[in-house]
Amino acid sequence: MSKSIKLEIKPKWDEIEKIRNKSSQFLKSRGFSKDMVQAFTMVISELVENSIKYGKFRSPGNKVLVEILVGANNVIVEVSNPIDQSDLKNLKALDKTIQWIRGFQNPLEAYTERLNVVSKKPLKDESSGLGLVRVAYEGKAILDFFVSDNSLLNVSALAKC
Ligand SMILES: Nc1ncnc2c1ncn2[C@@H]1O[C@H](COP(=O)(O)OP(=O)(O)OP(=O)(O)O)[C@@H](O)[C@H]1O
Ligand SMILES: [Mg+2]
Repeated sequence: MSKSIKLEIKPKWDEIEKIRNKSSQFLKSRGFSKDMVQAFTMVISELVENSIKYGKFRSPGNKVLVEILVGANNVIVEVSNPIDQSDLKNLKALDKTIQWIRGFQNPLEAYTERLNVVSKKPLKDESSGLGLVRVAYEGKAILDFFVSDNSLLNVSALAKC
């Protein structure tokens, strides 16, 4: 049985459900518990949402790529999207968020701190900045990212199992 699956979607909100269904089917078929399937599907959704929201899809063929890899003791998801290298603002925010989460021994502390900030923000503020910290806390996942030569941003999350 294959230990990995590659999926791709158009950068559209209604494609997220497709990824959620295929990912949870794959994880279930590889024997993961119901809780793990639920938690890791949330992780995948958050990363895919970010790809759709922040990716720069300039040509019609540009897609969001998702790869799930099952190891002996862990499961990894890698989500890629094209970026515009002149748009450093989001890359810096991504880097800052991941470094900030790593600074906490327990991701619950990061989550609580972020919730506190969010509760004080005006309602019209559309970005809560909770996605990645939720991945770390609820998904118990370790986040990382890199930019490849062909201007693809690859964000990964690794959870022990
Ligand atoms: N795929 C990505 N490409 C570029 N920038 C990203 C990407 N994912 C995250 N970021 C940057 O990292 C920041 C933090 O992401 P995070 O998911 O935690 O919060 P958010 O997307 O702003 O809010 P929420 O997920 O709660 O809607 C984003 O605001 C964005 O600037
Ligand atoms: Mg997000």
